[in-house]
Amino acid sequence: MDNQTLSPATYFVSDTKRWGVSNVGLFTGSNNPHYKSSISNQFTNIVDPELFQTARISASSLRYYGLGLENGFYNITLQFAEITILDNSEWKSLGRRIFDIYIQGSLVLKDFDIKREAGGISFSAVQKKFRIEVLENYVEIHLFWAGKGTCCIPAQGTYGPLISAISAIPDFTPTVSNKPPSSKRNNVGVIVGTVVGVVSFLFVLAIFYIIRKRKHHDDNEELLDIDTKPYIFNYSELKNATDDFNLDNKLGEGGFGPVYKGTLNDGRVIAVKQLSVQSNQGKSQFITEIAIISTVQHRNLVKLHGCCIERNKRLLVYEYLENRSLDKALFGMNDRICLNLNWSTRYDICLGVARGLTYLHEESRVRIVHRDVKSSNILLDHEHIPKISDFGLAKLYDDKMTHISTRVAGTIGYLAPEYAMRGHLTEKVDVFSFGVVLLEIVSGRSNSDSSLEGDKMYLLEWAWHLHENNNVLDLVDPRLSDFNEEEVKQVVRIGLMCTQTSPTLRPSMSRVVAMLLGDIEVNTVTSRPGYLTDWKFDDVTSFMTEVATKGSNTSFFNSSASTSIVGGAKIDDSQPILRENLSGGR
Ligand SMILES: Nc1ncnc2c1ncn2[C@@H]1O[C@H](COP(=O)(O)OP(=O)(O)OP(=O)(O)O)[C@@H](O)[C@H]1O
Ligand SMILES: [Mg+2]
Repeated sequence: MDNQTLSPATYFVSDTKRWGVSNVGLFTGSNNPHYKSSISNQFTNIVDPELFQTARISASSLRYYGLGLENGFYNITLQFAEITILDNSEWKSLGRRIFDIYIQGSLVLKDFDIKREAGGISFSAVQKKFRIEVLENYVEIHLFWAGKGTCCIPAQGTYGPLISAISAIPDFTPTVSNKPPSSKRNNVGVIVGTVVGVVSFLFVLAIFYIIRKRKHHDDNEELLDIDTKPYIFNYSELKNATDDFNLDNKLGEGGFGPVYKGTLNDGRVIAVKQLSVQSNQGKSQFITEIAIISTVQHRNLVKLHGCCIERNKRLLVYEYLENRSLDKALFGMNDRICLNLNWSTRYDICLGVARGLTYLHEESRVRIVHRDVKSSNILLDHEHIPKISDFGLAKLYDDKMTHISTRVAGTIGYLAPEYAMRGHLTEKVDVFSFGVVLLEIVSGRSNSDSSLEGDKMYLLEWAWHLHENNNVLDLVDPRLSDFNEEEVKQVVRIGLMCTQTSPTLRPSMSRVVAMLLGDIEVNTVTSRPGYLTDWKFDDVTSFMTEVATKGSNTSFFNSSASTSIVGGAKIDDSQPILRENLSGGR
């Protein structure tokens, strides 16, 4: 076990860069600052008892990454011993630690209970072996507590994953040397008991570095003093790629400026966003910000290839997503654009977006609140895998959020009340918007549609109406002939939970992922949020006047008390639990 002191949301990479660990979760009722547990007991059924005297524990989600592995089959051994729940005849032996284990995103052990596996005894080693295939040079072992077992026997906070050691041994003869990337001797930095991996990534890294260096334009070199520099495109390169920003190549235009499709000389198809809104940032600050955004990468986030900055022109270059944005796919008037997505694809989109947001909020190196989650900012690739776009962009425009704040009054649809009214910004602002997107995905209509009559005009209001009348299936897009009713009900319930008035009542995105996967229960939301009951949506002008006159002193949205949850466990739903898998399927 690595000896590192972890905290409720930390990661650690061993000196050798061979193993990384990421921990998320706060123990309720206990304060274990190190997230590890030690004991001096002797173990009888093993040769190496020391290995089991210290174990890593987590309150929710613990991921180990074996890095730089040569692709191929590996034998993974996970070693456990229950060292905190005793096995005497007292009540202290009644505790049950239960968690799930995923390897490479697939569930390999559900409801795993170390003590039960050991025949009901503690301080006894349990080994679990798996043969897995490494396809992308890393292995991910994810231990996840899904809220099962006891919480507080023999002491408060005795729950969650516990592991003593991990080993990964190739089931083939490695073709490259097994030397660690660093020449420094490493005596203590071994993160797991036994580590055997192959460091091919050094070589790849070296090539990558050389290519990047070559491509960089010298005039930007002195601007930066940051680790990762973004790729800087020439303006002429982008002009060529987009056929001089030809209108035929225009994909659309949002609050930041127009977006064009283009093809680079190397054949890559790109989307170029011309930032027309003036940013207060200087050149180097702008590039630094882009560099940060470029490091945030996940399968459910749009990849930013780089940027261009020449005189007052600023452009961002993204990967082009063939199936364009979700709003067009769902409510595009044009048959060519409207994709007629089936239910299973829609469900996968919900999950993918939730995973992308979980990554932004809870996992990535720089935590990002998107602030503008909406269907047009969710793009679909050729397999309909959703990718969130424009994350981090809000930061380019300071906290003043120039273009977004001017749209606040006009876009009631996605904005969390506390943000619209008070500028109060937390990741729960994104959770709210995500809730609206979920309802749009189910219903195939946009959050407000003035062509619809009465109650139907505003999606949230309509969804609540149907929910109260036990009729949520009426919300389903009429174009969907075949769908899983339980999944639909689940998604609507989650949508309603995410759009509650009080940010603290909205779940964290990792909980949303766990709910979508059925790993934790979805609580029932019983009554409409205050912003719907206190204020009728049918007078948009009055809303805008309210915003303008009451400003930040208003108690307009303060009626969160009217939203209540029944049947909810006494856990804090707003706390993150990490469940997302980088390579995970559904
Ligand atoms: N990477 C991309 N690949 C394919 N199409 C894209 C890409 N980026 C943007 N688009 C298309 O261009 C349109 C305009 O995008 P843009 O981000 O400028 O506006 P928006 O998402 O509607 O609003 P906002 O400025 O708030 O993000 C999108 O609706 C989408 O259809
Ligand atoms: Mg956008």
